[in-house]
Amino acid sequence: MYFTQLCFILSVSTVVKSAFERKNECLPGNNHKRTPGPEEGTFGACHEYKNNSCCTAAFTQTLSASPIVKVEDTYWNRCGNLSRSCEQYKLSVECFYRCSPNAIYWKNPDHPSAALHVPVCAEDCDAWFEACKDDMTCATNWLTDWNFTKPGENHCKMPCKSFTEIYKDGKGLCEKMWGSTFLYEGNADKCIKLQWSAGDNPNNAAVEKIFASTSGGWSTVMKTAFADLILISCAVAISSFFKFF
Ligand SMILES: *[C@@H]1O[C@H](CO)[C@@H](O)[C@H](O)[C@H]1NC(C)=O
Ligand SMILES: *[C@@H]1O[C@H](CO)[C@@H](O)[C@H](O)[C@H]1NC(C)=O
Ligand SMILES: *[C@@H]1O[C@H](CO)[C@@H](O)[C@H](O)[C@H]1NC(C)=O
Repeated sequence: MYFTQLCFILSVSTVVKSAFERKNECLPGNNHKRTPGPEEGTFGACHEYKNNSCCTAAFTQTLSASPIVKVEDTYWNRCGNLSRSCEQYKLSVECFYRCSPNAIYWKNPDHPSAALHVPVCAEDCDAWFEACKDDMTCATNWLTDWNFTKPGENHCKMPCKSFTEIYKDGKGLCEKMWGSTFLYEGNADKCIKLQWSAGDNPNNAAVEKIFASTSGGWSTVMKTAFADLILISCAVAISSFFKFF
């Protein structure tokens, strides 16, 4: 009897572990918490992350004004204030980077405080482009294309142009504005949403789908094989146990 229970616990825990392991970590970086968790204080922005957040309520106050002129030492409006709808997307990116408990899955191995190749839903990239197409910017890559006169303080190096001229479309916007942070992902089941209307963070489920099948490679295959082996030996053991009676 104990043996069957042990068999069951072993196989279930092995199967679950081999499928997906949630990370309880935040991306390292300025103003990021070490581990995600609920926040008590009132959020000024990024409300959708309040239940499980990598940023503090205090940090979100810096994002609560509109138009947002400056966050830390970085100006958002070097070519004029962003339109309200475009600003919402800039804010969504900021919230994802600062507050999302899922950003850690794409930690950039060369720059641990940055994310690398986060697959953003094509639909979100297209909507983001639509929201910003008439806004102006002087930087293609907003991480690097500036003249920094002191850490974080950005000045234009190039003339201001419209987002349409610089990025052409949603794919160009997602894959250029933040360097190698984002990818334009057409598979609607395996992509990260930048905005959602209410309720639970849909990206928790997306991360499970993305990493259940693609991460780990060989080691996932091995773990699954090991789980199968335990299940088969359990079945054999249990059936031979019952043959005694
Ligand atoms: C941008 O908005 C700020 C704050 O409302 C305002 O002071 C500033 O004049 C605006 N800048 C432009 C170029 O419209
Ligand atoms: C960067 O800004 C400084 C100070 O305003 C200026 O002297 C310098 O020429 C600028 N460099 C470029 C590449 O625009
Ligand atoms: C936060 O959690 C509460 C309680 O579980 C839930 O009712 C609410 O919808 C959640 N809010 C968000 C934004 O996910």
